[in-house]
Amino acid sequence: MSQYLESRAAFESHFVGFLYRQWLMYPKPIPRATTLKGQTAIVTGANSGLGYETARQLLQLGLTHLIVGVRSQARGDAAAAKLRDEFPGSKIWVWIVDMVSYDSVTAFARRCETLPRIDIVLLNAGLISIEFTLIKATQHEQTGQVNYLSTALLTVLLLPILKSKKSSSPGAQPPRLSVVASDTFYWAPPFKTGGPVLPQLDEIEGFAPMKVYSRSKLLQMMFFSRLAEQVNADDVVVNVCNPGLCRDTSFGGSKKQTSLGDVIFWFFININGRTVKAGTSAVVDALVAKGAESHGSYVSDWSIQP
Ligand SMILES: NC(=O)c1ccc[n+]([C@@H]2O[C@H](COP(=O)([O-])OP(=O)(O)OC[C@H]3O[C@@H](n4cnc5c(N)ncnc54)[C@H](OP(=O)(O)O)[C@@H]3O)[C@@H](O)[C@H]2O)c1
Repeated sequence: MSQYLESRAAFESHFVGFLYRQWLMYPKPIPRATTLKGQTAIVTGANSGLGYETARQLLQLGLTHLIVGVRSQARGDAAAAKLRDEFPGSKIWVWIVDMVSYDSVTAFARRCETLPRIDIVLLNAGLISIEFTLIKATQHEQTGQVNYLSTALLTVLLLPILKSKKSSSPGAQPPRLSVVASDTFYWAPPFKTGGPVLPQLDEIEGFAPMKVYSRSKLLQMMFFSRLAEQVNADDVVVNVCNPGLCRDTSFGGSKKQTSLGDVIFWFFININGRTVKAGTSAVVDALVAKGAESHGSYVSDWSIQP
């Protein structure tokens, strides 16, 4: 991290920094000449919220081929049908990936190998579990499983595939892979040191949704930052992006309010949250407008951040 970013870290990770971002940062337009014509993108969790809107904004930029990665065929088909109506000239395929299953993640990556070309990957599928939910097959808690462990696995499986699919046309950019983070990682409760970290994601005792969610996103950030050191940005550009707090996704804004905490959270999101369109524009910025300079970085609010 540069000295400049280091000097900004205290502000960015402070609650005032969060409010500043939410209220005073506005979408930066994608450079005018940008076109994704001829390109192929994969977006996981593309049936709703930020994933769906990212798919839309990429198609608006002329994307030729989109893979909608979803865990439910029906929800994927419904999203693809809407996208095909709006963008009849594009090829839109629905592929299954269930991020609680290593077999499903592996099968999805193998399927990606069959694509002639891959230019953009957005690993967006994620969730915050309201109750402790243990995934039987892996013996990990669901939030850590989806947001961190399976996302890391999918990345490791996809990287060599992306490298082998990079376009050889003169002037072509290397493929880009971005994962949707969350600035809640700034506030993740610290892990106990002196022992293994992963079991702490799976503890039922003291389970709190935001604690586990922010920790899963912190580990995700640390993983990608270290991973990028092993990847040549000429082969694949890897970064982490933050849409900021957004209202009107299935993530929290449209959830049924059952407790006082839920009601407070609902007000908080609806007062401070961005529109999905604005949050997605920060994601698309990290995918399309940022290049090698963002490799291994955290891209938030349309710029590289601590
Ligand atoms: N909304 C915010 O304020 C905010 C802020 C920062 C970061 N984020 C991140 O943005 C990403 C998208 O969230 P969102 O707000 O757009 O919420 P969302 O509308 O709930 O979208 C989440 C997507 O992830 C999918 N997903 C969940 N578990 C999955 C699994 N096991 N396998 C495959 N897909 C799975 C969901 O599929 P189903 O529809 O089938 O459940 C859905 O398509 C998440 O990574 C979230 O952490 C959100």
